[in-house]
Amino acid sequence: SVTATKYENVLLEENGGIATLTINRPKSMNALNSDTLTEIGQALDDVKANADKIKILVITGAGEKAFVAGADISQMKDMNPIEASNLSKLAHNSFGKIENLPQFTIAAVNGYCLGGGLELAASCDIRIASEKAKFGQPETTLGIVPGFGGTQRLTRLVGRGKAKEMIATGSMVDSAEAYRVGIAEEVVAPEELMNKVNEIASTIMKNGLIAVSMAKYVIDRAADLPLDLAIDFETQMWSQTFATEDQTEGMAAFLEKRHPSFPGK
Ligand code: CAA
Repeated sequence: SVTATKYENVLLEENGGIATLTINRPKSMNALNSDTLTEIGQALDDVKANADKIKILVITGAGEKAFVAGADISQMKDMNPIEASNLSKLAHNSFGKIENLPQFTIAAVNGYCLGGGLELAASCDIRIASEKAKFGQPETTLGIVPGFGGTQRLTRLVGRGKAKEMIATGSMVDSAEAYRVGIAEEVVAPEELMNKVNEIASTIMKNGLIAVSMAKYVIDRAADLPLDLAIDFETQMWSQTFATEDQTEGMAAFLEKRHPSFPGK
């Protein structure tokens, strides 16, 4: 089974092709210490290695209150710049693995999503939020800048002005505001969060998953290229999908007026 019990700070479970990675330190609001960041990276390696079973990855936080309330302040308190650099690189290594997974990833934001938590959520392909979720980059309230990607991934989500406002004030925004500015793609009642996430995951899983994976790849890889190169990249990806059985099946099913059954190859 993919379900792994070897982790102390995260849970990795799989059910019907959907894996859920739960950051599991509810007593400290699921704060990310170095062990947790390491385990996130290991769990992501597990998810990648089990791509035959796992089609979608959901990332969430344990307990009622928090998705992840940031990097662990008690661990960071006495760090020197070299230790800080190492922690940042550890986080970048783990969060980069999310973007590099072939599987589509969904952050199920169930509560406080702050600092390293927002940086984790921003590394996922989409974010679905509970009405109770609160988002922020409070680093400047601690005298530091965001260090797990916040100055870059948040800026790419919301633009420079909103990112600078959030980072300079350190203030939290509620889920309605997060939806308005493009941090969250959907907002639902807390008790509906996992149903909504599963519904989206199930919809994606009915599609050609090679195409989903390629779309994720080309969107992320080409987003910062000049448009002519980016378009060229898209043409490369698009034409490659015509080598898949999924394309043959998808188009045949449409013309035969039936639901496709994608072989995933
Ligand atoms: N690190 C370590 N411990 C944390 C934590 C964090 N980021 N966030 C919460 N906790 C701990 C609290 O210290 C507290 O522990 P004790 O029970 O031992 O006192 C426990 O979790 C519960 O927290 P609160 O009592 O504070 O709960 P609350 O409901 O009153 O407030 C909160 C919740 C608003 C999320 C508040 O805990 C908070 O502001 N947390 C810190 C948020 C923050 O500044 N995050 C950014 C960290 S910096 C960062 O992430 C750097 C980076 O760029 C990577």
